[in-house]
Amino acid sequence: MKLWGGRFRKDTAAEVEEFNSSIQFDHRLWEQDIAGSLAHVKMLAAVGVLSADEAEVICRGLEEIRLEIEQDKFDFSPEFEDIHMHIEHRLIEKVGPVGGKVHTARSRNDQVALDTHLYVRQEVDKVLDLITLLQEELVKQAENNLDVIMPGYTHLQHAQPVLLSHHLLAYVHMLERDRERFLGCRQRADIMPLGAGALAGTSFPIDRQQVAQELGFAAIYANSLDAVSDRDYILEFLAAAAICLMHLSRLAEELILWSSQEFGFVELDDAYSTGSSIMPQKKNPDVPELVRGKAGRVAGHLMALLMTMKGLPLAYNKDLQEDKEALFDTVDTLTSCLGIFARMIATLKVNEDRMRQATRGDFSTATDLADYLAKRGLPFRQAHAVVGRLVQFCLDQDKILEELTLEELQQASPLFDSDALTVLTPEAAVAARISYGGTAPQQVKQQLAQVRKTLGSRQTKK
Ligand code: ARG
Repeated sequence: MKLWGGRFRKDTAAEVEEFNSSIQFDHRLWEQDIAGSLAHVKMLAAVGVLSADEAEVICRGLEEIRLEIEQDKFDFSPEFEDIHMHIEHRLIEKVGPVGGKVHTARSRNDQVALDTHLYVRQEVDKVLDLITLLQEELVKQAENNLDVIMPGYTHLQHAQPVLLSHHLLAYVHMLERDRERFLGCRQRADIMPLGAGALAGTSFPIDRQQVAQELGFAAIYANSLDAVSDRDYILEFLAAAAICLMHLSRLAEELILWSSQEFGFVELDDAYSTGSSIMPQKKNPDVPELVRGKAGRVAGHLMALLMTMKGLPLAYNKDLQEDKEALFDTVDTLTSCLGIFARMIATLKVNEDRMRQATRGDFSTATDLADYLAKRGLPFRQAHAVVGRLVQFCLDQDKILEELTLEELQQASPLFDSDALTVLTPEAAVAARISYGGTAPQQVKQQLAQVRKTLGSRQTKK
């Protein structure tokens, strides 16, 4: 007999049972579901809706169910639809009809909302730690390669030389904003929906404050319809995850490029690479490639849930059950990507010579030459044109900027002096970029110190 079977004359069709059921995935909410029921029952006893004895029997039953699930002795079957009915059904089986009082003043609508709020809150905390750990590995690589010079790119063309440490720190800052996004999401998941009932509240004299306190919520939903209808806290989680993975994916793309024969800037550790079944020489960057691929999958989950939500009238609709696979898969995907990425970065080998070599003769200090003229009073636009002609001259003569003679420079502009040639090395170009947030070593060191301070103030559970 179904927990809701009373008004039905026929059994549910087997295929509907299967179709309707969410236990295959929402069993993951068992801990939250039990915690929520315990808090609810304690409150019902405190306000006199249940007797102390009844509450005790129910709570003991719930604790036993917790053990059964922990020890893999719990029977999950599609017949009971979802995790909420599984636990209630088992409770009644164990403690008798009094178990049915657990659902007094509650609906699965506020129950499932409660469970997913608790779940998102808990998973955000794990994600925050994982982001910090990845940031730490990036910072360590930045510190170990503080002065390594590489080409900086725009349009994937050599633009101006930068420090590798500067490049890596850019990702640390992106990840910092990702953390902030997750913190914002946590804030909005930290509101308790229980007590909304099916949609309109309840006629029982419940104490929502007590439940919120018991479960450590910062606030309670002030509107019962809102409490059971929205999934914006899940959408925020998916959005934050999609953005975070987009960041990882860009770094992944760079590592894939950088480990190619043409670049040779980095080498992934053997333990974080894979081989080919046919080509014996291959060493493939499967890990960053998969991270890049999975970023697309999570972006898809975000779109899918947005589309599911956008046409729903208030309040609960069964469509909302579709939030869970997106959420769970996003949690799994994001946490595994963050974890493996951190370890891959930690073991990454940097080829300093190849990076430095790549800046040779690439004209990437041309801006510095133009800046030189501008500092001598020539309007920058004219300086740009002068240096553009010099670049063209070099290309025609098949030489690099550093090989220009003072006479050649002065032919282009009388403002050039003997010190002009000194601005042409990548080292000088990097050292000159002392503006706040620039790539000069002194600036990068300041940046590092600031980032170190931020990370140092954080306690992670490693
Ligand atoms: N499994 C359902 C879900 O995930 C639980 C809520 C069911 N509520 C209902 N009125 N059928 O959304």
